[in-house]
Amino acid sequence: MKITILSRSGAIASTRRLVEEARARGHKVRVLDPVKVEMHLDGRSANLYYRRSKLKSCDVLIPRIAQSISNYGLAVVNQFAMRGVPQLNGAQAIAQARNKMRSLQLLSANGIDIPATVMARDAADLKAMVSLVGGVPVLVKLLQGQEKHGVMVCESLQSLEAALEAILGLGHNLVVQQYVKRTGHDVRVFVVGGRAVAAVRRRARVGRLSRTLIRGARLRRIEPTEAQKRAAERSANLVGLEVAAVDLLDVKGKPKVFEVNSSPAICEMEEATGVNLAGLVIERAEALVEEHRRALEGRPAEKRRPRSPLKEGVA
Ligand SMILES: Nc1ncnc2c1ncn2[C@@H]1O[C@H](COP(=O)(O)OP(=O)(O)OP(=O)(O)O)[C@@H](O)[C@H]1O
Ligand SMILES: [Mg+2]
Repeated sequence: MKITILSRSGAIASTRRLVEEARARGHKVRVLDPVKVEMHLDGRSANLYYRRSKLKSCDVLIPRIAQSISNYGLAVVNQFAMRGVPQLNGAQAIAQARNKMRSLQLLSANGIDIPATVMARDAADLKAMVSLVGGVPVLVKLLQGQEKHGVMVCESLQSLEAALEAILGLGHNLVVQQYVKRTGHDVRVFVVGGRAVAAVRRRARVGRLSRTLIRGARLRRIEPTEAQKRAAERSANLVGLEVAAVDLLDVKGKPKVFEVNSSPAICEMEEATGVNLAGLVIERAEALVEEHRRALEGRPAEKRRPRSPLKEGVA
């Protein structure tokens, strides 16, 4: 099978792991930098070039589009879709995951529990709505355009108002969220092909709020509860992602999903859990290609779900 990975560089750890696993399973794999892909449309065909040479087609696309080049990168992913190349993940799903406001709306509308959230474009309105999320402290999440851009905790109404005025004054969007404090465990569930395949608990570095890797969080393998698995699998499915990391806060056994990530870091999660996640992604790519082939031949798809290294729930 010929696999194309869209990534800024083959040296990025997650990309390197995907390449390794693809080769180990006997596939041909190439890494293309999405910003070096050129596209041509003329109302009849959708062509792709790489540094001005026509690109040969491939069987499946694995996009790992950096936030900084999201718009162009997703156009490239979409162009591959127009050529009929199956992909994990698709452009629409990635865009949906990256739009925090829309994702929270989608999850909430479909019965997924999320931290109480308010959105408004005016600082005074937001301040007045804080009672709806249980009052201060609250978490303010900055969104630049459609993309996320960091979080801050506001402990008092005064500091909240000042922060909101500054952020909104810069023309940024934001969401204000109930701040789930110590009671909430931060859990990341990795989902591949609709199935929760690994989970970790994330702990922030001392003195840090964020439990994300980039900010030095520590990961520890956990066996997710049935509720966590269900929430993660349903969330990935609603957003339309084949590969996702679903972040949630577990509040006394009740998962509250706060983010669905479309290009999750693979290596750190593999190290923490011992699960070959890159291998599972490639396995899912193989299944997708097979489903695609069957669909083209008009044969019904075989029901095939990826095996999960997590224990199956007892029915
Ligand atoms: N409602 C909440 N209550 C308490 N902590 C939260 C809440 N939402 C998120 N967090 C914590 O803040 C961190 C960042 O939140 P989130 O992932 O939504 O923002 P982000 O913009 O993606 O930032 P990052 O790039 O740090 O992940 C999370 O890792 C989580 O630990
Ligand atoms: Mg995050």
